[in-house]
Amino acid sequence: AIERTLSIIKPDAVAKNVIGEIITRFEKANLKVVNARLQQLTREEAEGFYAVHKERPFFNDLVNFMISGPVFIQVLEGENAIAKNRELMGATDPKKAEPGTIRADFAESIDANAVHGSDAPETAAVEIAYFFGK
Ligand code: CMP
Repeated sequence: AIERTLSIIKPDAVAKNVIGEIITRFEKANLKVVNARLQQLTREEAEGFYAVHKERPFFNDLVNFMISGPVFIQVLEGENAIAKNRELMGATDPKKAEPGTIRADFAESIDANAVHGSDAPETAAVEIAYFFGK
């Protein structure tokens, strides 16, 4: 089915000047950018976005990293977009990511891991609404 998913190009990848290279990977996989903006998140916005991780030990480092510079937030649309995006990203930990994936090629660490992508239809809907409304 045609789905929409939320993708965030994180501060490390924005700083590396690879927004275009990452979007090209989405486009080559037939995912279409249907909404997007560059944004400096506030602490409150980052904490709200990652609220499900609030009790995790890495929460503070994650929030601090996500507000360390601008992020590029986008909605991707296409056939099987949620799983396809996750495949393109590779594993959360870049050391475990398959060669040729975005995280294998651009990420440094599990925190500075270049991209975020929604993990399921329910979270995709919530995450898209969080940044772009209904
Ligand atoms: P993301 O897909 O943006 O969702 C939560 C983020 O927390 C994840 O990518 C990682 O960058 C970060 N993170 C840091 N440590 C961990 C961990 N041990 N497990 C999962 N995510 C982690």
